[in-house]
Amino acid sequence: MTKTPFIHLKNLHKSFGSKVVLKGLNLDVKEGESFVILGGSGTGKSVTLKCILGLLTPDKGTMTVDGVNLLTGEPSEISQIRDQISMLFQGSALFDSLPVWENVVFKLLAQDKIRRSEGRSFAKDLILQVGMEERVLDLSPNELSGGMLRRVALARAIATKPRIVFFDEPTAGLDPITGSIINGLIRKSVDHLGATAITITHDIASCRQIGDRVGLLHEGKLRWVGPIKDMDKSGDAAVEQFIKGRSKGPLTATA
Ligand SMILES: Nc1ncnc2c1ncn2[C@@H]1O[C@H](COP(=O)(O)OP(=O)(O)OP(=O)(O)O)[C@@H](O)[C@H]1O
Ligand SMILES: [Mg+2]
Repeated sequence: MTKTPFIHLKNLHKSFGSKVVLKGLNLDVKEGESFVILGGSGTGKSVTLKCILGLLTPDKGTMTVDGVNLLTGEPSEISQIRDQISMLFQGSALFDSLPVWENVVFKLLAQDKIRRSEGRSFAKDLILQVGMEERVLDLSPNELSGGMLRRVALARAIATKPRIVFFDEPTAGLDPITGSIINGLIRKSVDHLGATAITITHDIASCRQIGDRVGLLHEGKLRWVGPIKDMDKSGDAAVEQFIKGRSKGPLTATA
């Protein structure tokens, strides 16, 4: 019998009223793998991750992580799994009312994993790891540039040493050079943790830098899945259209 993949989504469906978003999505991610979901705006990339996180409930389908069924499993087992997942939200989602250091160790403090008196020095190690200076610790998120915000969000995402990390558009709104630095840091952090990662993006450069394998989300399904190295010779017209950024092709056939 073959073992169920570490993250296993099967025949996932999700609609909002008459708006059908996921239409039988299948996704398998191996433990320790970095998987990238590519797709245009509004195709359901964030919805997919929110289903795994339990922020949304799919209408139909199966979701298992490390053998635990996220829809029908024991609630205690499900929360144990979700507790090992860290998410870097689209737009960073830091708390403006808290200094950077408290944002970074927020979950560890909330779960009493570290004492408040240790928080700043714990956060300092992480802030240095993502290439920022100590002085940033006491700034408020609204005093930071877009690239710095993303670094802080990354530090927060890895602070709990998660087994699984999700990155939602980690480079959106950044210039290409800052984006490339963030991608490099993401790849390094994921490798260092030995974590399993899913990144969702519409940035091809990000995809190439972060991923081992990639899938293109279109019309509610992953339409092509393969190793990053095969992306340029996928033979799939939609993948080619996406990579080249062409206005005409299967992705825009109904637009
Ligand atoms: N809570 C919700 N209620 C109603 N509709 C929703 C909800 N969440 C998402 N949607 C709809 O589902 C569709 C997919 O949304 P999603 O956020 O997954 O897109 P995305 O692929 O992440 O796009 P982007 O690249 O722009 O972030 C959109 O049409 C969106 O309006
Ligand atoms: Mg999104």
